[in-house]
Amino acid sequence: MINRDKLNSVYERELEMFKDLHPKSIERFEAAKNSLLLGVPLNWMVRYAGGVPISVVDSGGASLTDADGIKYTDFCLGDTGSMVGHGPLPAAKAIAEHAYKGTSFMLPTEDATWCGNELQRRFGLKYWQFSTSATDANRFAIRLARQITKRPKVLVFNWCYHGTVDETIATLTEDGSVISRKGNIGPQIDPSLTTKVCEWNDVAALEEALKDEDVAVVMAEPVMTNIGIVHPLPGFHDELRRLTRKYGTYLLIDETHTICAGIGGYTKLHGLDPDFFVCGKTLASGIPVGTYGFTEEVGEKAKAELDALYGLVKGIGGTLAANAITMATMRAVLSEVLTPEFYERNIPLADRFNEGIHQSIREFNLPWSTQKLGTRVEYWFCEEEAKNGTDAVNSRDFELDWYMHIYALNRGILMTPFHNMAIITTAHTQEDVDKHTEIFRAAVAEIVD
Ligand SMILES: Cc1ncc(COP(=O)(O)O)c(C=O)c1O
Repeated sequence: MINRDKLNSVYERELEMFKDLHPKSIERFEAAKNSLLLGVPLNWMVRYAGGVPISVVDSGGASLTDADGIKYTDFCLGDTGSMVGHGPLPAAKAIAEHAYKGTSFMLPTEDATWCGNELQRRFGLKYWQFSTSATDANRFAIRLARQITKRPKVLVFNWCYHGTVDETIATLTEDGSVISRKGNIGPQIDPSLTTKVCEWNDVAALEEALKDEDVAVVMAEPVMTNIGIVHPLPGFHDELRRLTRKYGTYLLIDETHTICAGIGGYTKLHGLDPDFFVCGKTLASGIPVGTYGFTEEVGEKAKAELDALYGLVKGIGGTLAANAITMATMRAVLSEVLTPEFYERNIPLADRFNEGIHQSIREFNLPWSTQKLGTRVEYWFCEEEAKNGTDAVNSRDFELDWYMHIYALNRGILMTPFHNMAIITTAHTQEDVDKHTEIFRAAVAEIVD
């Protein structure tokens, strides 16, 4: 059993240790407060264990070095942005070449066509467009869906995350109303005007919500990953597809994270058949990117709409979308890095990471569990598997969460903040994984009776 007194005192010790180990990162963080809100360029960066982000001075493969000269095994990998590792050579070459040749023309390059063809081959959808983030790809897909269906609403699953898309930052109250998600900054309008929310895996609630035929598109990660990994129950995807078709609603599958499942994402692995498909992040090795694909039927309807609106895609896009350096990098990643061999090598290593955690769970008889998806593994501080976002939220334990993160960080391991998740990449070795196993065990041994 976890002893909370021990946990609290060891956590305090670890916080002190963090401060002793990181004087330069702390100094840089304090100095940054002069011009950066909260001392960081992106406010999420204060959410790392210790409340001070380590200041990165070097990286490569699966490691980072901070301003205090400490080297970390990086299992966060930019929360998927660097799932292919830091600076894989084919991507680095493409970036370097285009840094000299020119980066952005607002004109197509052959690499974009190559990428479109490759995305079509991998994921099965006919037409592709690009953006500078997966957030934007989701936004643009919503706009096309609304334009074609003439319906105002989107439907998302409770505690989902699809980037900072206004319509999706909504949750359910206990009485089933839709409200702005706690912590949402400056909600654009009352989200119940734009959004319906259902619990994941709840087929009856989904049908009830779609019945009114006012939903343009249902957006779903094929496995929830942003509130921890919550798998679909058997048959849920079949029902999701059946009901969206029955009520004339488009289905968007967002594989920005679940691309870790396999070469064609979860979609190919499980034979899903979405109308829209969104991905981003790692496809260009961490260069900002998003992409959205759609079926031929959607494409033909979109073309007709756009012709009628004369002129291409007013309001959908951005001058930096599909720029030359991003397209060249994506081509390099898809052709040479994110290959079948990537998954063949790294999924077994993720299994080893998972088994390492289970060794301690068994040894200390912990009421904890793990979830896995392809190259992604995470541990939970509960035994029972969450069936939906509410279960996942209710099982959170912030004391344990912060302690496990900072304990690992103080010993040279960076886990993904927000939950206890690791992503495995080709530059990770068995030794890296076994180091985590050892540190995880040591962290647990200090807080059990
Ligand atoms: C499922 C999903 N969709 C979209 C996004 C947004 O990606 P980006 O940060 O590139 O806008 C994220 C980010 O984590 C995500 O997890």
